[in-house]
Amino acid sequence: MAGQKTFYLETFGCQMNVHDSEKVIGTLEQQGYARVETEEAADLILYNTCSIRDKAEQKVFHRLNDTKALYKQGKRFGVLGCVAQQEGERIFERAPFVSLVSGSASYRRLPEMLVQIEQGATRVTGLDDRQTEETFETEFTARSNPHRGYITIIEGCDKFCAYCVVPYTRGKERSRRSESVLAEARRMADSGFTEIQLLGQNVNSYRDPEGKRSFAELLAAVGEVPGIRRVRFTTSHPRDFTRDIVEAIDAVPSLCDHVHLPVQSGSSKVLRMMAREYTREQYLERIGWIKGARRAISMTTDVIAGFPGETAEDFEETLALLDEVQYDGVFAFKYSPRPNTPALSMPDSIPDEEKSKRLQILLDRQREIQRANYEKHVGQVLEAMVEGMNPARGQVVGRTSQNKTLNFTAAQPIAPAPGVYVPVLVTKAFPNSLVGEAVQ
Ligand code: SAH
Ligand code: SF4
Ligand code: F3S
Repeated sequence: MAGQKTFYLETFGCQMNVHDSEKVIGTLEQQGYARVETEEAADLILYNTCSIRDKAEQKVFHRLNDTKALYKQGKRFGVLGCVAQQEGERIFERAPFVSLVSGSASYRRLPEMLVQIEQGATRVTGLDDRQTEETFETEFTARSNPHRGYITIIEGCDKFCAYCVVPYTRGKERSRRSESVLAEARRMADSGFTEIQLLGQNVNSYRDPEGKRSFAELLAAVGEVPGIRRVRFTTSHPRDFTRDIVEAIDAVPSLCDHVHLPVQSGSSKVLRMMAREYTREQYLERIGWIKGARRAISMTTDVIAGFPGETAEDFEETLALLDEVQYDGVFAFKYSPRPNTPALSMPDSIPDEEKSKRLQILLDRQREIQRANYEKHVGQVLEAMVEGMNPARGQVVGRTSQNKTLNFTAAQPIAPAPGVYVPVLVTKAFPNSLVGEAVQ
């Protein structure tokens, strides 16, 4: 690799960031850079960052502190993603050895920013075009998995929930043309992908700039691309969750039987303070549509514990909602005050100890719900997409259409390869995974 420019890239945060990184990697490779596995081996060290909670944001500053000595060896540092957009030029103050700060809305300018760094510029920024109408599309996406791939269909967020940084870190909502999404889905199918996951901070707020397809119609159209066996979509916002999404899942078998619908709180009062734009009742109405589908659709959610002003009664309402909905998974977080957000100025913050207590009660309750839910699969035959092997256990690791982990043994002398679909009889259940045997 003598003479070749090299880069190291590490990703923090959500699936949007993971997929952005795949685009950044493709763009850098196109610019003549080769990716390396360690910071020590790289000329350019990039961190794609997340600032959704304080802990996530601190990670990158710890990381920079651990690796800053490499600057003296001539290596250059870049901070990308949500912390970059949020902190902007302040990052140069905190970490003066950083040469590049760029938010996700500026990645299409990466090639020119790289040239500036190569020419010795020390404070290159991509922070200015958050209000762009354009989405970041590139033909150079370097997808890390050859069977299952992401397509971002909508970027940014216009919802401004009181606690959340995303509208400030990712700019306004802008959707990609459905024709362009479908063209990418077809290209992926042609090169062997069988699973596509459509991404957006609020994927179902999608609005085709050409007005050709609604979100549900786009979902169905991707599901009908020949060769595509599974389509997922995340994250759905309850306010924009319409009945035709469930009808699309009913009509198109390749649309996976799973909906991630973050509720945040079971109390209408807290939802109002959060500016979520739906009530408990409206949320449950949507859950009713999902439960009324012809296939059993698995549901998962996100919850915030200890939002300012959340009383013990409000929290009880959240627990009662978990009992009522019977989710298959809950991502729960303690409320973390974030810069720029309206909730930062709300009084009556819940002490950290109380937040931790509520979080634990919630997770314990949910674990029992999942134990019972997962148990119901014992005796069923489910189709698993193979993801890899667990050599220690001699098990194949698979995933069901409902997005559940299904570890199984296969009698054949050669274990099925990643990407293969196998019918599996479920023999045992845990609160977070299933165990089974491949059906001959
Ligand atoms: N757009 C999605 C969520 C994106 S952020 C939606 O509206 O549902 C992912 C999750 O992080 C959120 O669902 C929320 O539960 C959590 N989150 C966001 N900001 C947070 C904060 N300040 N403190 C704690 N959790 C937060
Ligand atoms: Fe954040 Fe709310 Fe937007 Fe979700 S909808 S990304 S929680 S502001
Ligand atoms: Fe984090 Fe930005 Fe995603 S804040 S969760 S990486 S949109």
